[in-house]
Amino acid sequence: MNIGIIGAGNIGSALAVQLTSLGHSVYIANSRGPETLKDVAQKTGATPVTVQEAAQRGTDIIVVTIPLKNIPDLPNDLFDGVAPEVPIIDTSNYYPLLRDGQMPELETGDLTESEWVQQHLGRPVVKVFNNIHAEHLEKNGKPAGTPGRIALPVASDDAAAKQKVMALVEELGFDAVDDGSLHESWRQQPGTPSYGADMPADKLREHLASLGTKRTEEQHAEFLANHANMERGIIKQLQG
Ligand SMILES: NC(=O)c1ccc[n+]([C@@H]2O[C@H](COP(=O)([O-])OP(=O)(O)OC[C@H]3O[C@@H](n4cnc5c(N)ncnc54)[C@H](OP(=O)(O)O)[C@@H]3O)[C@@H](O)[C@H]2O)c1
Repeated sequence: MNIGIIGAGNIGSALAVQLTSLGHSVYIANSRGPETLKDVAQKTGATPVTVQEAAQRGTDIIVVTIPLKNIPDLPNDLFDGVAPEVPIIDTSNYYPLLRDGQMPELETGDLTESEWVQQHLGRPVVKVFNNIHAEHLEKNGKPAGTPGRIALPVASDDAAAKQKVMALVEELGFDAVDDGSLHESWRQQPGTPSYGADMPADKLREHLASLGTKRTEEQHAEFLANHANMERGIIKQLQG
C-alpha cells in the first residue's frame, strides 16, 4: 500500500519502521520540511515529503500523528483531491498540562478528542494507535494467535474506513478491537482503564463494555483527574 504519515516523531517513526518492513511504501512529513528528515528516512526506510505530498501520495491510508494543539495549523486544503474512501487515521491524545493547554470542548466533554480533530480536518477520521506507547507499537507486535497479543481499540463513524484500518492493525501484529463510533472513543482516551495498559483482546473488550457507551459526567471527571495525575507525575520526573 501507499501510506502517507503526517508527523515524524515517536509514533510516526514507529509506524514508518513497521510499515516499510511489511513492504509498504511510506511517505513521511513533519512541520519543517523533507530536508530535515534525512535521519528519519535512514532509520525507517520512508520517503521524506512535504505535508501536502504525504496526503497526496498516501493513496491507501493517511496517518495524522502530530500534537493535538497543532492540528489547526495543518493547511485547510490538505485533503483536497484525496479520494473519500482513503482512511485518515488520528492518533491524538489531549495532554493539557504537559503540551496542549486547555481546550474548552474537551474539558466539558462536549466532544471526544477525535471528534474535535475530525471537525478541524473536515474529513472522517479513524482513532487508533493513541493508547499504546510508541516503543511498544514498534517492538511488541506479534503474529495472530500468540497468547497475550496486545489489542488496540479502533473507533470511527466510517465503517468501511474502520475495517481497512482494523486490517492494518492486525498486519502490524495487534488484535484490532472495534470501539464503536468516534463519539464513543472517550473509552480509549487518556485516564481510562485501557490507556497504555497493553491489554489482550478479551480483557480490552471487557473493559470497554464495562464503561457503557454514553459517557457520564462522573466518568468524564474521573478520567480527566486520572490523566491530570499522570501528567503531574511526568512533569515531576522531567523536573528531576
Ligand atoms: N509518544 C507516544 O508514545 C504516543 C503514543 C500514542 C499516541 N501519541 C499521540 O500521537 C500524537 C503524536 O505523538 P508523538 O509522540 O509522535 O509526537 P512527537 O514525537 O512530538 O512528534 C510530533 C511530530 O509532529 C510534527 N508536527 C507538529 N506540527 C506539525 C504540523 N503543523 N505539520 C506537520 N507536522 C507537524 C513534528 O514535526 P517537527 O518536529 O518538524 O515540528 C513531529 O515530527 C500526539 O497526539 C500524541 O499524544 C503519542
